[in-house]
Amino acid sequence: MLETLYGDVLAVPDHGQVAIYIPELAGVDPDKFGVHLATLDGRRFGAGDQDERFSIQSIVKVPSLALAFKDCGESLWERVGVEPSGDPFNSLAQLEYEHGIPRNPLINAGAIVICDILCSLYADPLAAFLQFVSEISGLPEIAVNADVAASEWEHGFRNAALINMMKSYGNVVNDIDRVLDLYFHQCAIEMSCRELADTFLFFANHGRQVGGGEALLTSSMTKRLNAVMLTCGFYDEAGEFAYKVGLPGKSGVGGGIVAIHPGHYAVAVWSPRLNMKGNSVKGMRLLEVLTTRTGFSIF
Ligand code: DON
Repeated sequence: MLETLYGDVLAVPDHGQVAIYIPELAGVDPDKFGVHLATLDGRRFGAGDQDERFSIQSIVKVPSLALAFKDCGESLWERVGVEPSGDPFNSLAQLEYEHGIPRNPLINAGAIVICDILCSLYADPLAAFLQFVSEISGLPEIAVNADVAASEWEHGFRNAALINMMKSYGNVVNDIDRVLDLYFHQCAIEMSCRELADTFLFFANHGRQVGGGEALLTSSMTKRLNAVMLTCGFYDEAGEFAYKVGLPGKSGVGGGIVAIHPGHYAVAVWSPRLNMKGNSVKGMRLLEVLTTRTGFSIF
């Protein structure tokens, strides 16, 4: 069924645009399209460019939040909220009238605060984070594209504005360059749909490594992370995604989307053409028809 749905969505014209505000991402083939679904009982289904790595971008905000939440517990929420923003992912306006406290950890401002927290906790926060992603995914090494990170540094004026504003309100404690360096390198991680699905199976598995491994988060903490994904994972399109797909998930401007059905499966899609809200057009369409035809959503 997944292969049939993939073919149906592939055939529909898609006028979405590849993200160009990070020049290094602009060169990606806009017609790449892949999907991979992995179940907790070990079954796998996929189609298209499912094994080609792409820039996961904002999808990384979920494992980054997971590591900070694991280390800080509930005190984390003194620095960042859990409400949907209803605003674009890089908006400055709300941050100013809410005194430098980002609405949630899945918009850029919130993810930057999470990076600040990781910079306080670890001498080498990128190494600690990559180690954590390895642990939750079972992948031996996590690829970071240095050219993408450099491109983000060069053109990251909006993120620089966000972090400076938060620093002015006292919600960033570390050196700004150190925090942004972590943030940009996290966004520049590359994974395939298969690897992303494997990584997010951890969140479908209530915070436990898949295959009888260790519980790295409690199921209560994982429930909370999944709730944040459902309400905040798609910025000002979170309601639309919940309405159409009915699963917690997260998108990135590289064209990836990953979604989970707790207790059952994780599915990752990749198609670089984005809609105006920065979410993959084909990715959303495929997930919508998948959960509609199968009935496998949390609702
Ligand atoms: O900071 C940025 O703007 C990018 N590195 C990440 C943005 C992103 O993926 C938003 N997602 N849809």
